[in-house]
Amino acid sequence: MFEPAVYQKRRAELMERVGSGLILLYGNGELPINFKANTYPFRQDSTLLYYAGLKRPNLALLLDVDAGKTYLCGQEHSLEDVIWMGPQAGLEELARCSAIDGVLSLSAMANRLAKAGNRLHFLPPYRCEQEARLSDWLGIPVENLKANSSQSLILAVVAQRSRKDAREVAEIEKALKVTASLHLSIMTQQLAGRKDYELVEEARFRAALKGCSFAYAPILTAEGQILHKHRRGELLREGRLLLNDMGAETETGYAADITRTFPVSKTFTTQQRELYEIVLQAQEKAIAACKPGRPFRDVHLLAATALTEGLKALGLMKGDVEEAVSVGAHALFFPHGLGHMMGLDVHDMENLGEDKVGYDENFRRSEQFGLAYLRLARPLQKGFVVTVEPGLYFIPSLMEKWAAEKKHENFICYEAVNQYLDFGGIRIEDNILITDSGCKVLGDVHIPKSVADIEALRGESLF
Ligand code: GLY
Ligand code: MN
Repeated sequence: MFEPAVYQKRRAELMERVGSGLILLYGNGELPINFKANTYPFRQDSTLLYYAGLKRPNLALLLDVDAGKTYLCGQEHSLEDVIWMGPQAGLEELARCSAIDGVLSLSAMANRLAKAGNRLHFLPPYRCEQEARLSDWLGIPVENLKANSSQSLILAVVAQRSRKDAREVAEIEKALKVTASLHLSIMTQQLAGRKDYELVEEARFRAALKGCSFAYAPILTAEGQILHKHRRGELLREGRLLLNDMGAETETGYAADITRTFPVSKTFTTQQRELYEIVLQAQEKAIAACKPGRPFRDVHLLAATALTEGLKALGLMKGDVEEAVSVGAHALFFPHGLGHMMGLDVHDMENLGEDKVGYDENFRRSEQFGLAYLRLARPLQKGFVVTVEPGLYFIPSLMEKWAAEKKHENFICYEAVNQYLDFGGIRIEDNILITDSGCKVLGDVHIPKSVADIEALRGESLF
């Protein structure tokens, strides 16, 4: 964790932003897999991590804004806990690590919550165990918790966590360094004949050796058109493109989120190269356009335009490019958003509500297929860390449906598109920091992404 004053300052800013009342930030508990004592790996709630840095399960922070006092709430360990889990730091010691004023037992905390009434601010729960505990503490039925959560607290947390300071950027850089080593290790291997899970588990092991875990379930597949393919068991074959979307999470909880797509063989086929170059130039144009004040929705549309121009040049689309993008015809090939915020969550703060993080009163979510999946639309600000991840995909069931409906037939050359039914998908993703006047691609270690660099790396690799 960072030094205690960092968390103290963050909490002071939060209390100032919220202005009055009592703020409850609750951490995560252990989640059973198949019985209570057999649990999934513990992951602390990211907001608790941000304001306290503490990783123990079942903690909460209570911030009394009116009194200017902060409390760490939890249960001291019993002798039984010590017998099974070994000695653990007490609450006072944990509170000191994070410069928290005092400690409260969970029952003392619950008493204060019960008396707080509408002075209480809490965030919407996203796990069933949180819902059950909150409902019990607050006497609010589970189904009403979200509606009773504090909009001012959500907006205050989003405002603070959206701007990454130098320490946070350094953590993301650490995650990127490890992530680069995972990607490079996969890119330099013999891949044909390997199973996807062998590569994923090797990468997990490499990350663990550096003190990291995965920030999300990797997407490693030659079926890149399946946007979040997590099912494993695929055999990699010569001639296919492998899409690897894989990012490490540091010990402090910060994420990296990188995608590279490259041939299972040593070189791209002509068809693969043509499409790959379109995605790469769209990504480069989009990155070059990122700067403070520019709505990310505009950058998304710029990338969509570049993709559409490329597809038109290849004979897969036709007609007026601007019009095609405005009606969403390109979404057949690029059905997701250009990127999202990143930080302590790979999709940062998504548990607080995508619209609260990525939209505001001036930027409302579109209902158009494709654009509707854009997680971040509002103007970029200095200190934001976001992904830029355009892609082109050939999703057979979507292609068949649109073709049968003759959807956007003025813009899509269905006969040509049908030649690509078995192509798969391409995505190229980097993580950028918005600076004073533009942006910086994060990560000191270069992970090849030009066709020449990728073919050189695959060509030089000893397999
Ligand atoms: N890395 C997966 C995603 O951004 O959705
Ligand atoms: Mn991503």
